[in-house]
Amino acid sequence: MFDPRGFIEEKIGSLKEEVQDRETVVAVSGGVDSTTTAMLGHLALGERLHAVFLDDGLMREDEPRRVSVIFKHLGIEIEVRKLEQRFFSSLKGKTDPEEKRKAFRDTFYQCLGEVTKKIGARCLLQGTIAADVLETRRGVKTQHNVLEQIGIDSVEEYGFKVVEPLKELYKHEVRAVAKELGLPREVFERRPFPGPGLAIRVLGEVTPERIGRIRRVTAIVEEETVGTDCFQSFAVLMQDKATGLDLEGRRNYGEIVVVRIIDSVDAMTATPTEISWEKMKNMQRRIVGTVPSIVRVLYDISPKPPATIEFE
Ligand code: XMP
Repeated sequence: MFDPRGFIEEKIGSLKEEVQDRETVVAVSGGVDSTTTAMLGHLALGERLHAVFLDDGLMREDEPRRVSVIFKHLGIEIEVRKLEQRFFSSLKGKTDPEEKRKAFRDTFYQCLGEVTKKIGARCLLQGTIAADVLETRRGVKTQHNVLEQIGIDSVEEYGFKVVEPLKELYKHEVRAVAKELGLPREVFERRPFPGPGLAIRVLGEVTPERIGRIRRVTAIVEEETVGTDCFQSFAVLMQDKATGLDLEGRRNYGEIVVVRIIDSVDAMTATPTEISWEKMKNMQRRIVGTVPSIVRVLYDISPKPPATIEFE
């Protein structure tokens, strides 16, 4: 049986030992994994820990502000770096999912390398969990935050050593640690969001306009599933267009979104959630009624396996 209190005590001790008296950077995203990592780092290292949030323009609606508020409440100072342009340039023209993930990963770590250099830090703390490592090793997807486990030397490539206190835990165990640490409910219950964010929720090329549309649709799907018992709820923008009708009844080619709502414990397997027809209709009405260019809303009923949770 997993003992969150024992885990916390052990990790605080090992973090102190591993990092010693050096400055350390922690990369935060607002999710449960990175916030838990930051809190463990804060308890172990105090003022020597520098939290940084890379605002890559690929997050959920209002995320930078929300993260700032949470960290203020936790008493951890956080630096927000605006890097939207840089991430969009690195993804420009890329359509292959693995290429997109790798481009994202390179920019992500280069930016963090600049932060560690500026601060004189030797280590980067990050919230990698067991599922991220397993999926990358099994060759399912190159998760953006897995380096050493696939032979990338972070010291040589980016100038810092990666420290991952949660790398043996699964999501439900991380939630137990977060709860034990006294993090707010909105953090320990937060639904997962992939590191490369909305970049892997638009199939094909990433543009600010496509990201803007899927961000709005994501917010609608999340709002409409508040209180629904599920692991994740989101939407994906398809590459192909479909024939539709404009208000005057003329032919009009529009975009397609797929809504995905799934149940899972550890993200290794998942099943589609049976949500009410009423909720589906509301979602459809709001999406098509408020997000220009979308004419079709589909619901994905594929379990993992054989599908994966995300489309890319
Ligand atoms: P898949 O799509 O592999 O997703 O079934 C399993 C879980 O991992 C999340 N995910 C990611 N998280 N970096 C992350 O930090 C990534 O590159 C990434 N890809 C998928 C996904 O949202 C799900 O919870």
